Amino acid sequence: MSTHRVLHLSDPHLTGSGYDEDGVDAAGALDRILYDARFVPDIDVVLVTGDIADDGSAEGCAAVLQRVGAFARERGVPHVYTTGNHDAREPFAKVFGSAHLGPDGVDLGEGGPDRAAVSEVGGLRIITLDSLVPGSVHGIVSDEQLTWLDGLLSRPAAAGSVVALHHPPIAIGTSPSMANVNLRDAGRLAEVLAGSDVLAVLCGHYHSQVSGFLSGIPVWVTPGVVTRIDLTAPSHLVRGVLGAGATVVDLGGPFSPMFHVLQARDPRAGEQVYLVDSTSGADTAAEE
Ligand SMILES: [Fe+2]
Repeated sequence: MSTHRVLHLSDPHLTGSGYDEDGVDAAGALDRILYDARFVPDIDVVLVTGDIADDGSAEGCAAVLQRVGAFARERGVPHVYTTGNHDAREPFAKVFGSAHLGPDGVDLGEGGPDRAAVSEVGGLRIITLDSLVPGSVHGIVSDEQLTWLDGLLSRPAAAGSVVALHHPPIAIGTSPSMANVNLRDAGRLAEVLAGSDVLAVLCGHYHSQVSGFLSGIPVWVTPGVVTRIDLTAPSHLVRGVLGAGATVVDLGGPFSPMFHVLQARDPRAGEQVYLVDSTSGADTAAEE
């Protein structure tokens, strides 16, 4: 079986100004991780799993497309995007189309229900799902998308498939915040994936690297670009800190799927951006 390497980014949270609502230099964070990923060899496709625009704007989407598109174009590889809870479908579609783009920006995707889409890169089938619920932080994959996905997976791809969506269908059991914001009804997705050629489910949203299994398929949550959620905080608190990350996903090799994490060389990495009580929603910036 052929091998493929995915550079998996998530949660750039850009706006037209380049800063997110917490005042973080989101454009700088994305630039930094793309610059520090410049020595990663043999990338076949770049994937960004949602929260493209912090404010849902077309300007935020365009700012991400400009940066990730330039990185992909230099390497001659396609680039693929999903929506996240911060995104809005209309501006997202206006900027990205199917969001499966060739190295030159040409739309390669075949669209499904909502903003779901599919394309193939050298025999690897890349399926993006839209888990966005407008106005909510948690995610849902619609019945229409699950039916569409079931139909796609009835025919295996030459090099297998990956499924990418923003909201993880897994959560850390001791984290009250993850249980509130993850993918709802993950059991229905698990049923569709069971026995399929899906090699990995790739997600974002938690701004933290987490892995688990769904129907025996590895689920990988890549670190956030704009901020990292620091899981050393007490479990009722959500602490966001600076420090962009990304994942290199290797598929089809002897240890497939393999995941390894890149951390941007940010001198301010670890600096606190916010500390929120997930049980009350209160900002507890004074409490460390
Ligand atoms: Fe996010």
